[in-house]
Amino acid sequence: MLPVSVNSRDGSGSCYAGACMKDSASAQVITVLNRKGGVGKTHVCWLVASVALEQGWRTLLVDLDPQGNLSASFLSDGELSPGVEQLFDPSVDPKIRTLIRHTEFDGIDILPSSGRLEAFNLTDSEQWEAADLQLVLAESLPEVAADYDLILMDCPPSLSLTSTAALCASDFVIIPLEAARWGALGTQHIIAAMDSICSRFNSRLQLLGYVVSRFKARRAYQQTYLTELRRHFGDDAFEAVIPDLAAFEKAVTDRVPLTLHSPTSHATRIARRFFDEIEARTQRLTRSCRTVGQRRLRKSSSVSV
Ligand SMILES: Nc1ncnc2c1ncn2[C@@H]1O[C@H](COP(=O)(O)OP(=O)(O)OP(=O)(O)O)[C@@H](O)[C@H]1O
Ligand SMILES: [Mg+2]
Repeated sequence: MLPVSVNSRDGSGSCYAGACMKDSASAQVITVLNRKGGVGKTHVCWLVASVALEQGWRTLLVDLDPQGNLSASFLSDGELSPGVEQLFDPSVDPKIRTLIRHTEFDGIDILPSSGRLEAFNLTDSEQWEAADLQLVLAESLPEVAADYDLILMDCPPSLSLTSTAALCASDFVIIPLEAARWGALGTQHIIAAMDSICSRFNSRLQLLGYVVSRFKARRAYQQTYLTELRRHFGDDAFEAVIPDLAAFEKAVTDRVPLTLHSPTSHATRIARRFFDEIEARTQRLTRSCRTVGQRRLRKSSSVSV
């Protein structure tokens, strides 16, 4: 639950204005979030970073999940700390740049996470707001944003401190979900949190869209739920659907970005289509400057899928 009494630090409600599109002076910042576990959040980050690499973009991945799955895809155990947990530790004051690692893929850097983050990932908003910890990423990412075209933040399956900090520092949010019974359940809590953060800390925050992930086309019930989700979310649902494919898992297992692992595969073509849609949506939303508040009003009906 987000209390309602703290104002943004600069009073404007905007963390760092004017940097949504790729060709602007600094990175566009996208958070990938769902309170549900195992819906493909980390995989979405992995796929988007893979295509961004192919496109020659400079990407910073920020791993905000104590599970550290995204970090483990790029770094060995010994390289995981100090990492992002230092930003949430009130007893230290690190420079964000010193925590970022280059990966072996030129164009992908990562601010890693490990189990050490667990102790700092508070769940009580009163506790974190007492020290303004929700703003640590909004305050530190601008120091490096000009070095990147894209900053992608992978969140844990919760609206804890690190997810809230990601929302406070982001331009856009992607919500992956599965085409399954209750697949959309809980997404209204994310929209409510975004709405609160938009009005109190980060007026640029916008929903980029819901993407159906791990889709199993051969299962009839998944087709039914996909239709239901599209009906429910309308234009907020990505056209792209990410199927459950062995090729995706294989690239992760081999720790090689998909676009290098199997550049001509069906899986890679899907990832590219998803990336293109992300780019088109960010540009469209940046132009139209719609707010989360406006979108939420349109989405006030109950979730039935
Ligand atoms: N499209 C896909 N095709 C095949 N496997 C996938 C796909 N998406 C995700 N997976 C696999 O499913 C598992 C869960 O995915 P992932 O870790 O991305 O979910 P998550 O939402 O980040 O989970 P958590 O909430 O635990 O962080 C992983 O083993 C991942 O490699
Ligand atoms: Mg994950």
